[in-house]
Amino acid sequence: MEHLINRRVKDIQISGIRKFSNLVAQYKDAVSLTIGQPDFFTPDHVKAAGIAAIEQNKTTYTMNAGLLELRQAASRFLHEKYGLTYQAADEVIVTNGASEAIDIALRTILEEGVEVILPGPVYPGYEPIIRMCGAVPVYIDTTRNGFRLSADLIKDKLTDKTRCVLLPYPSNPTGCVMPEEELEKIAALLSDKQIFVLSDEIYSELIYNGEHHSIAAISAMRDKTIVINGLSKSHSMTGWRIGFTFAPASITQHMLKVHQYNSTCASTISQYAATEALTNGMDDAVFMRDEYRVRRDYVLERLTGMGVEVVKPDGAFYVFPSIRNFGLKSFDFAAKLLEEQRVAVVPGDAFSPLGEGYIRISYAYSMEVLKEGLDRMERFVAGLR
Ligand SMILES: Cc1ncc(COP(=O)(O)O)c(C=O)c1O
Repeated sequence: MEHLINRRVKDIQISGIRKFSNLVAQYKDAVSLTIGQPDFFTPDHVKAAGIAAIEQNKTTYTMNAGLLELRQAASRFLHEKYGLTYQAADEVIVTNGASEAIDIALRTILEEGVEVILPGPVYPGYEPIIRMCGAVPVYIDTTRNGFRLSADLIKDKLTDKTRCVLLPYPSNPTGCVMPEEELEKIAALLSDKQIFVLSDEIYSELIYNGEHHSIAAISAMRDKTIVINGLSKSHSMTGWRIGFTFAPASITQHMLKVHQYNSTCASTISQYAATEALTNGMDDAVFMRDEYRVRRDYVLERLTGMGVEVVKPDGAFYVFPSIRNFGLKSFDFAAKLLEEQRVAVVPGDAFSPLGEGYIRISYAYSMEVLKEGLDRMERFVAGLR
C-alpha cells in the first residue's frame, strides 16, 4: 500500500539530527554534544503545580485555545518582558509545544505554490511543514552575514508569490540574535506588503548580551505577525509540551480551527504547570541563562584555542563553528569525530544545505561533559592537521 501514501509526506526526509543520533546510539561510550534541550530540571514549584492538578482531578479538556488563566499569564509575560500586547481572550492559543504552533501557523497561512523566505542554516522543523502545504521554501544564505537575515537580503528574494518571511531568532543552530535596528529595517521593507511574518522566539529568554526584541513590537508589523513562543527552553519543560501562538484575532480565529481539529487542547496538567511557570516563575530562566553564558564562553575559548573558526553566538545554547578548513564534509567530519574520539556533534547540513561546512555543538551540558568532549575534539582536530 505504500504507493498510496501522500506524495508530500513520502518526500519528507527524517531530520538529519535524528539520523545522526541513531548513529550515535551505537556508541555507548560517546560524549554527546548534540542535544537541543536544557540539562536543568523543571523548577520544583512548576512540577508541584502539575502534581496538584492531577491530585485535584483537573484532568478534563480545557477550552480549545487553552485555560484562560494561562493565556492571561502568557500575555502578561510577553508584555512585561518584550512590550508585546495580546488579548488573552482571542489572540493567544496554547499549543502542544512550539512545534504545533509552527504547524498550525504555517497551515493557516500557506497554500499551493506560495513562497516562504527563511534564513539558512536553520532549524529543520519548518521546511517539511512548508512542503506539506505545497508551498516552497526559499532559503537565504546568511553564512556571510553572521547567520543573520537582513532587509537587504530579504529584498532580493521577494516575489509576487512571497507569502511569509520566517524570523527564527535567537537561532537554532547558530545562536545568532536579531538586533533591534535590523528589525526596524525589515519592518520598513515589509510593513506595506501583503506578507506574513512568522517569528519563532522560543529562545527569547536565553540572550547573553542585551535584550530580546520582537518584530511584533513594531506597531506597523503587529497585524501581519504571528509570534511563536513556549516553555520548552525558558523553563526547561520540553516534555510538558507547552507552546503558544500570539497573533491578531483575525489570524488567531483561523489558526484555532486547525488547532482544534488537530488536538482539541494542549495537555491540561501541563497547562496548570505552565500557568505557575509564567506567574510565579517569570525569571526562572535567569539562573540557567547565567550558567549557559559561562559555558558558552568556555566553549568559544576552547574552539578558538584549537584554531576553529566560530561566530560568537549571543543567544540559545548552540555554537556553529566552521569546519571548512579540514577538507571534510560536515557529515564525514562528525562521523569521523564520533568513530575516532567518541564525541557526537550534529553535522551542519542537518540545518538545510546552507549548513554544509559547519557543525552544531550544544552547550546544554555540564562543564565536565563539555571539557571532556572538547578535549577529545582537540585531539581529533590536531590529528586532521
Ligand atoms: C527554533 C525552534 N523552534 C521550535 C522548537 C520546538 O520546540 P518545542 O519543544 O516547544 O516544540 C525548537 C526545538 O528545538 C527549536 O529549536
